[in-house]
Amino acid sequence: MVHRTQSKVVVVGIGNVGATLAYTLAIKGGIQELVLIDINEQKARGDMLDINHGLPLLHPIQIKVGDYSDCKDADIIVLTAGANQKPGETRIDLLNKNASIFKTMIHEITKHTTTAILLVATNPVDVLTYYTWKESGYPKEKVIGSGTVLDSARFRYLLSQKLDVDPRSVHAHIIGEHGDSELAVWSLANVGGVTLEHWTQQILTAEEKQDIYEKTRDAAYEIIQAKGATYYAIAVALDRIVRAILGNENAVLSVSSYIEDYYDVEDVFMGIPSIINRDGVKQVISLPLNEEEQKAFQASAKKIKDINRQLP
Ligand code: 2OP
Repeated sequence: MVHRTQSKVVVVGIGNVGATLAYTLAIKGGIQELVLIDINEQKARGDMLDINHGLPLLHPIQIKVGDYSDCKDADIIVLTAGANQKPGETRIDLLNKNASIFKTMIHEITKHTTTAILLVATNPVDVLTYYTWKESGYPKEKVIGSGTVLDSARFRYLLSQKLDVDPRSVHAHIIGEHGDSELAVWSLANVGGVTLEHWTQQILTAEEKQDIYEKTRDAAYEIIQAKGATYYAIAVALDRIVRAILGNENAVLSVSSYIEDYYDVEDVFMGIPSIINRDGVKQVISLPLNEEEQKAFQASAKKIKDINRQLP
């Protein structure tokens, strides 16, 4: 397929996550056009102005507040609209509210384009990615959820702190639900290619591993308790996915992808390392999971599928 070099990103939902993503895209540069859409146009306009005023000190980018008609020639449409968790709420608690917001949003978007990549960030992200796929009629490759990209980053960060190495040299995945049933793929986690059981500088005990997993899984609860919302790291995760797509990178990221015939799991979107390029998900990676990991993966899939059945 021939790809144009222009890049246009539309962000729908300019709350904490959407605004921080817009800011991140602007400060990192390399995007030609960025359109912000929100039902609260005034808020979007405020963020647009605030970011635009920094542009003389940054890189060229056109940022505007728009409406759904701006989706027509978008390369990527990032969906961040919806309610977010209050302290004590799980991501799943948001389902009904956010599914109805998505219904309207997808209806509007598909009036204007059937070729953009839809990148879903709103929670519960795996369920809403599935819903977006079903409602949009898009090919499965073109619908991507932020999945466990953020969770994997949290996991790598916590491991890096424990092992005293650069987090970029820690390669490890959290897979499954972006939420309480996610799992750590300990068997494949490595530092610079050396698996953890051979990282003789420091062998983690079972308790230490459990503690790192729990801190990863519960990170959002801790941050929401402390400041009401999470947005910096998810914005960076979304920026990373956007660049993997626009740069046709074939990068491996644990996005929420459509799963078929994977350890007896099928017909569900969930976080799994996938190759991402201009066409969306090029390939879901086959991970050689151990038995315990396979069971946890299947349990996580079952949880998401049970919730998918509650979709309107
Ligand atoms: C997060 O994990 C709340 O899903 C959001 O930060």
